Amino acid sequence: DSVLVAHQLVGPKINRFIALIQHFPTTKFAAIIDNTDSLLALEKEAMNSNVSIDVYIDINNGMDRTGIEIGQGLNELIDQIKPSNTLKFKGLHVYDGQFRDSDYDDRHAQVEGAMQQVLKLYEDLKNESKELELVCGGTPTFSSHLFHAYRICSPGTCVFWDWGYDEKLSEQNFQYAVLIVTRIISKPTEGIITIDLGHKSVGSENPIDKRVKFLNLSNYSLKSQSEEHGVLEVDNWDELKVGEVLFGVPFHICPTVNLHDAFSVISNGKKVDQWQIAGRQRKITI
Ligand SMILES: Cc1ncc(COP(=O)(O)O)c(C=O)c1O
Repeated sequence: DSVLVAHQLVGPKINRFIALIQHFPTTKFAAIIDNTDSLLALEKEAMNSNVSIDVYIDINNGMDRTGIEIGQGLNELIDQIKPSNTLKFKGLHVYDGQFRDSDYDDRHAQVEGAMQQVLKLYEDLKNESKELELVCGGTPTFSSHLFHAYRICSPGTCVFWDWGYDEKLSEQNFQYAVLIVTRIISKPTEGIITIDLGHKSVGSENPIDKRVKFLNLSNYSLKSQSEEHGVLEVDNWDELKVGEVLFGVPFHICPTVNLHDAFSVISNGKKVDQWQIAGRQRKITI
């Protein structure tokens, strides 16, 4: 019943966000802001629509993607939100996706180190308003934040899990919830098989050796991909047959999900349901 849109709202997105609030009155929606222009734009549209908007201030604690750094500008932004009648200051939001060290102790030390100045600010703000919340972390860092009950964790990838995080985050033991099914479509020359898994089917922003790993194939390497083809060099070429099914774990599940319209839901080896992937739409009309 609470949804934090952890992305900067500008232009037409502000009124679409307000439409969401109006359409689902029992859900508590909140937005993040990191600058005065966004604050004023959000405030103006909220006033025009006669709604109140919960906001978290997005803090930049080192990722340098979005957020405002701790300092005078941030203090001024806080002072501007506090008296607002239409915006309600709910707390701080910190996404520390820059910490991806595979050594947990090193990563943990980096996460906590970067949190120190955020925590000081958070404590100061809490002296004035006990309700203020602190939302932080993606999957690589929530295994540090979760030790502190007052921190609200915001991981996403661990829901489906993927090969990339499984390889890197050895302290986390999630199971793969999503696999890609592909088939051998050709054996064009000795030692080579081709499958119907190109870069239209699996996230391919990483190098060729970091796209998909197969659970039921050994001693292979993915050589190339085109839109609808994946070319593999294999050791047991003689044994593999055209039409054979391979089960793949994506290296990066997030862009992979976004390439498909639906999941087939499998229970005890049988398809029992199909879930539409609503997030794939660029725009969902409410
Ligand atoms: C702002 C924000 N919060 C949370 C997440 C979830 O992080 P992860 O995918 O590491 O679980 C992301 C992922 O990109 C993000 O951008």
